[in-house]
Amino acid sequence: MPNIVVIGAQWGDEGKGRIVDLLSKGVDIVARYQGGNNAGHTIVIGEEKVILHHLPSGILRENKLSVIGNGVVVDPGVLLKEVAGLRAAGYRVDSSNLRISDRTHIIMPYHREIDVAREALKGEGKIGTTGRGIGPVYEDKAARRGIKLADLIDPECFRERLADVLEERNAYITKVLGGEPLSFDSIYEEYSEYGEILKEFSCDVSGLLNKALSEGGSILFEGAQGALLDIDLGTYPYVTSSSASSGGACTGTGVSPTKIDVVLGVAKAYTTRVGEGPFPSEIHGDEGKRLRDAGAEYGSTTGRPRRCGWFDAVALRYAATTNGISSLAITKLDVLSGFESINMCVGYKYRGETLTTFPSSCSALAECEPVYEEVPGWSENVSDVTEFEELPEGARNYIRKIEELTGVGVHAVSLGPSREKILFLSELA
Ligand code: GDP
Ligand code: IMO
Ligand code: MG
Repeated sequence: MPNIVVIGAQWGDEGKGRIVDLLSKGVDIVARYQGGNNAGHTIVIGEEKVILHHLPSGILRENKLSVIGNGVVVDPGVLLKEVAGLRAAGYRVDSSNLRISDRTHIIMPYHREIDVAREALKGEGKIGTTGRGIGPVYEDKAARRGIKLADLIDPECFRERLADVLEERNAYITKVLGGEPLSFDSIYEEYSEYGEILKEFSCDVSGLLNKALSEGGSILFEGAQGALLDIDLGTYPYVTSSSASSGGACTGTGVSPTKIDVVLGVAKAYTTRVGEGPFPSEIHGDEGKRLRDAGAEYGSTTGRPRRCGWFDAVALRYAATTNGISSLAITKLDVLSGFESINMCVGYKYRGETLTTFPSSCSALAECEPVYEEVPGWSENVSDVTEFEELPEGARNYIRKIEELTGVGVHAVSLGPSREKILFLSELA
């Protein structure tokens, strides 16, 4: 099996969890490389639905190792609840199938506090974050005042680091955000306990992965957010604070780019976005609601209604180029059944010009009007189709059109949330 990076090719919630769960059957290790519990990855197995926030989407497969890389940020309380929930549902989660990089940064109570307070202060100009402390924890990492898992599990080191950081962060919370200072003692007590429990999971993930590779093992790298939410290449500032792009798989796990064989981009047959920020192909009003209802488009983490829009070939081409997407998995094609005609965004009108490339400036993107090509839809329910050739002509043409517009071959088409609702069109390239 090749070493695969699976990334979301849009603004998130493309069905990454569903695709990782599927492909994890064929690899030895699934590695999460960025993001934290802002992610919500849904996996449906029979009648059972599991939403994973921290754990890699390979955790539900027996005999697979799941690892959390150094690029991820971990909220220990949330992680341990997630582990307890899976154990209660009968899944095995222990240090034989879950390891966490000792370089992983820890989400602390002040990160959540700052995230929520800042958003409230910004009002209209907010990012629309998940409120999980993600921006502030990555900010501390970059500012070199973060607390890593290695620090947390060493009581003396943790005491020193926390005392240092909390003084600085409390000054910010009280003087700038007008909040109450957080107590050293209660954080120290709670988080020391987490450190004690997490000790058994902590390891040098880069060393573990590189050893596995040298012994012929295969790895699936799981991106948490979508490529357009990447801190460098996304629609900044309306992004998350980590490297969701394929390059993040290397910096977020300590595995070299030369070890990666395939980058699979997961994209919905249409587009959604949660939170603020420009979205040229967004559909407002009743038709947007129709798509939201048909696709059950409500956030897996916050429950917020997702903004819905047509497939955007300009944005996807950009994601394909910047991430080296070598194959696509198109999800939720079933949701488009019943639309008489479907719009595909093939360009942007910007100040009298037609753009076919994705602008780097967010304010320019906000001014862009979509240029649509209207294609015929199909009325048939496609959920039970098992061969690509059995899909209605409109659905087949739609997939072929996506390939033509993006220049990337479609490896798989998903027709439902559960494992078996998938059509494979070509080998994974
Ligand atoms: P992720 O964050 O990229 O893993 O995606 P989410 O889990 O947040 O959102 C995707 C949603 O679509 C979940 O509720 C999935 O169960 C569901 N889903 C995934 N693939 C399909 C599909 O092909 N058809 C339908 N109808 N639902 C799907
Ligand atoms: P999955 O893994 C959709 C969005 C938030 C907000 C922005 C910044 O389920 O695809 P943050 O809390 O990260 O600082 O918020 O990023 N966002 C997501 N949108 N799916 C996600 O994860 C997201 N994770 C973050 O809505 O606009
Ligand atoms: Mg999600």
